[in-house]
Amino acid sequence: MRAIFLLNLGLALFSIPIASSRHTISTDREGGDAEDHAATSEGCIVSRMSRWDMARTGKEISFSTNPLDNFEAPRVELLNSTTGEQWEFDGISEDGRQAVMIGFYRDPSFAFLGTGNLRFYLEFSFPNGSRYSIVDYAEESIIDICTGRGTRGTWTGAGRTYTFEVSDSMSNAKVTMNSPEVSGTITLESIAPPRYADNSIWPSPNASTMPIPYFHWVEPIPAANSKLDIILNGKPVSWSGIGGHERLWGAFNWYTCVHAMTAIRFRAGSYAVSLVEFNSNIYKNLTVSSVILVQGGDVVFKTRRVQSSETEDYMELFKIYSSKGVTTSALSDKVTGLELILRSPGRDLTWKFSLRHLNIGFEHRFSQGMGSTGYSGVANGGLVGTGQNYGPAFSEVMMFPKKSLLFTQNYIG
Ligand SMILES: *[C@@H]1O[C@H](CO)[C@@H](O)[C@H](O)[C@H]1NC(C)=O
Ligand SMILES: *[C@@H]1O[C@H](CO)[C@@H](O)[C@H](O)[C@H]1NC(C)=O
Ligand SMILES: *[C@@H]1O[C@H](CO)[C@@H](O)[C@H](O)[C@H]1NC(C)=O
Ligand SMILES: *[C@@H]1O[C@H](CO)[C@@H](O)[C@H](O)[C@H]1NC(C)=O
Repeated sequence: MRAIFLLNLGLALFSIPIASSRHTISTDREGGDAEDHAATSEGCIVSRMSRWDMARTGKEISFSTNPLDNFEAPRVELLNSTTGEQWEFDGISEDGRQAVMIGFYRDPSFAFLGTGNLRFYLEFSFPNGSRYSIVDYAEESIIDICTGRGTRGTWTGAGRTYTFEVSDSMSNAKVTMNSPEVSGTITLESIAPPRYADNSIWPSPNASTMPIPYFHWVEPIPAANSKLDIILNGKPVSWSGIGGHERLWGAFNWYTCVHAMTAIRFRAGSYAVSLVEFNSNIYKNLTVSSVILVQGGDVVFKTRRVQSSETEDYMELFKIYSSKGVTTSALSDKVTGLELILRSPGRDLTWKFSLRHLNIGFEHRFSQGMGSTGYSGVANGGLVGTGQNYGPAFSEVMMFPKKSLLFTQNYIG
């Protein structure tokens, strides 16, 4: 859902800067070291970053871990050479056969390619298994946060504009794209409350945004009903289904902080689930999971616990390897689906869900058979002893190789 490894993709570059017409506030960045990177206008906070904006080497930056800071606001200002952040949006068609994945980045990871730090990324899969991806580098990224009107992020370059909008309560989001390769919108209507890395529900003054050391994640939209209406490479595509929205930022890059990640998101009848599990690369044995189950919009179960218990709620997640699901041909983990069991011994309740992969939404190969695969598919299940529920499902299985020629760790101790 949020892997950002684009080395196997063509890099489309913006060339001519385009000034935004809507925003009149700009800050003086002479010397590439703007002191006041955020300015206020008409009750809005505006954050502007152009493609090469970086903090001066060795200068302390603003890196927010405050749980009460707006989920959509920039958490890293300015960027330094090891930090980065992203706004991620995704969707799966109701039949589980099509997927869309979108990332807006402020991230210097690929700056050495001469592309700048403002990436827009889209990956789309068709029912026949073919995929289409776009990587664009913007000249400018503007985020304005206007209380009462939500947050808007705009990545602009020559002849193209990509925008995300998220309402103050994070109940609605919309991505709008306008470029020679893709135009149209994706909308999300949330069906689950925003949550933190420690599985607290937003807003909470003492919640944590850090699942594993140096790496931050919050989930503004754990699950949503989605609608996609786009023209991709000349071809009109529309569907409805599910989706979600994630926010991620780190003091260091993914390869430094994360060893592996598994994520699932689905809707089945009136149920919706989001689960994210990170394995730390810095503390080798640290695996941190977090799952939320909502029914009709209400949280009915959530836990981070994976050890069984007689009293505490806990989860069990199993990978399925069967002939019934689609799997990767390029990577070594041939997972065809997942099974999730949510147990509440205190309430004597168990929910069981199965996911079956029907298509590959995106895939990034690293090396040694490792990489990241995002699947679209279907889920079924529910409360054990009651009927089955069905719906679309997303899952991602990602693992980094121990050694890599593609990635470099950038930890500063
Ligand atoms: C798969 O479908 C897409 C969208 O309809 C089409 O553009 C593409 O050519 C198809 N690919 C194959 C291999 O048939
Ligand atoms: C966090 O704050 C909430 C109230 O806002 C409280 O119910 C909860 O116990 C607190 N948790 C911790 C770990 O302090
Ligand atoms: C960048 O900022 C992060 C967060 O403050 C810090 O941990 C890291 O060491 C900084 N990197 C550099 C190269 O200064
Ligand atoms: C990690 O787990 C392995 C196997 O359980 C154990 O042998 C090792 O001591 C653990 N390492 C750390 C740093 O806890």
